[in-house]
Amino acid sequence: MGPAAGEQGAETGDEWTKVRRKGRRMRSHHPAVCPSSSRNAKGSEPRPSFLSVSDIEREHRRIRDQWRASTGCHQLRDVVASRNCGSAITDAICFGLGSFDPEDGSWENKRRAHVQLAAFVYMVEQLQRDNRVPIRCLFQEPIFNSVDEAFIRSLGHEVVHSPGGFEQVGTSTLVFGIHLYRDVYAQALAGHLPAVFVGTPREVWEECHGSDVLDWVQLKDLDERSDKVNFPEDSGYTTFSNTTIHWRRQDDT
Ligand SMILES: C[S@@+](CC[C@H](N)C(=O)[O-])C[C@H]1O[C@@H](n2cnc3c(N)ncnc32)[C@H](O)[C@@H]1O
Repeated sequence: MGPAAGEQGAETGDEWTKVRRKGRRMRSHHPAVCPSSSRNAKGSEPRPSFLSVSDIEREHRRIRDQWRASTGCHQLRDVVASRNCGSAITDAICFGLGSFDPEDGSWENKRRAHVQLAAFVYMVEQLQRDNRVPIRCLFQEPIFNSVDEAFIRSLGHEVVHSPGGFEQVGTSTLVFGIHLYRDVYAQALAGHLPAVFVGTPREVWEECHGSDVLDWVQLKDLDERSDKVNFPEDSGYTTFSNTTIHWRRQDDT
């Protein structure tokens, strides 16, 4: 699911494969993650889980607390504080976290899901500070099993099934999706340009796929109408590699 450290990765279905990157070096000092344009179709059979909700809660508390003490988390707080746009956000949708109990048992994938969840929730909390109305949080991830879903609900959030989340994206939404496939981003951006978009930026798509993405109108629009900041790194890991926070400009309607 995620890239092996030190390798270029591109997803093909559930796997990451090494790819040769086009053009110059990426600006990130972390190994590059080449995003993929496509994926294999997935079956809709629910996966069994080997963990209980309380197992996942226990792991989440531990990983979240470590991340919250990190420089990356402190940088994220400062980045959000510098924008002062919380009141513009009414809902937040997290796409494609991965499972907290991945089928292949990969610790890296599991940790990445926990850290990305912690960062999403933290970002929402920081945006909530300027906002009297609670920001509604939704999660869409087709590989969630029933225990993953129960865990998310135990945190007070909603789980929606694809394509339900895409239809909920509006101009006051925070869209958060790390290392997703092009068609998932494309569907998330198809209706409205969200207030905040956290995901793979245009320059990474262009660097990896060249002119193939030049006809991606919504990505171009997002790029041109947003102020962009690199998502703070999760030191020693690729959790947020090549990820950018796009803030739609406030004078843009
Ligand atoms: C390459 S993985 C990235 C997982 C994780 N965010 C990471 O950084 O490792 C892409 C994820 O997108 C999820 N995905 C696929 N189709 C989706 C959809 N329609 N809506 C939301 N997520 C989807 C996949 O199940 C997969 O977990």
